[in-house]
Amino acid sequence: MVKGDTSRISYKPKNPVSASMTSVAVFVDSRGGNTRKVADAIAEELGVAVGDITASLPGDAGVLFLGSGTYGGKPGEAMTKFIGSGTFSGRKVALFGTSAAPAGSEKMIGVMADALNQKGAAVIGSWHCPGKFLVMNWGRPSREDLENAKKFARDMLR
Ligand SMILES: Cc1cc2nc3c(=O)[nH]c(=O)nc-3n(C[C@H](O)[C@H](O)[C@H](O)COP(=O)(O)O)c2cc1C
Repeated sequence: MVKGDTSRISYKPKNPVSASMTSVAVFVDSRGGNTRKVADAIAEELGVAVGDITASLPGDAGVLFLGSGTYGGKPGEAMTKFIGSGTFSGRKVALFGTSAAPAGSEKMIGVMADALNQKGAAVIGSWHCPGKFLVMNWGRPSREDLENAKKFARDMLR
């Protein structure tokens, strides 16, 4: 783990993983652009483009990186719909987010993880960082945050 990066959690998946789905995909719900920066860094690291959250889930995506800003302790509506309407059995999912306060992302990621576990996903880990909000967290996500996000992405694929 990168020194000082305390916002990462690895999970022991509750659901099984499929060996036949091999590609990686990144989806994000970002109203203000903070979480989009994290998604872009992760996608760049993985050599993929950020997917369209309003489209359906690619059938061969065995590892999904799903991210959202935190809005009232929850992910955005588009992400909630995406999780509600997708088929997640057999897929590994890594979660990421931004929020004004660390507890906000922790809560929001917990909401996503619960919904995904119920849909049969194997949730493998999460990472979050502060995002600019009003006068708080100027300059976040920072360059260092984005490097930590990239490291998280690499580690999730190991
Ligand atoms: C409507 C709204 C609700 C928010 N609710 C929370 C919250 O409950 N907890 C928190 O820590 N941050 C909250 N925030 C701050 C955002 O989560 C934070 O700015 C985040 O980086 C936004 O991500 P985005 O730029 O990708 O939309 C809220 C922001 C907005 C606009």
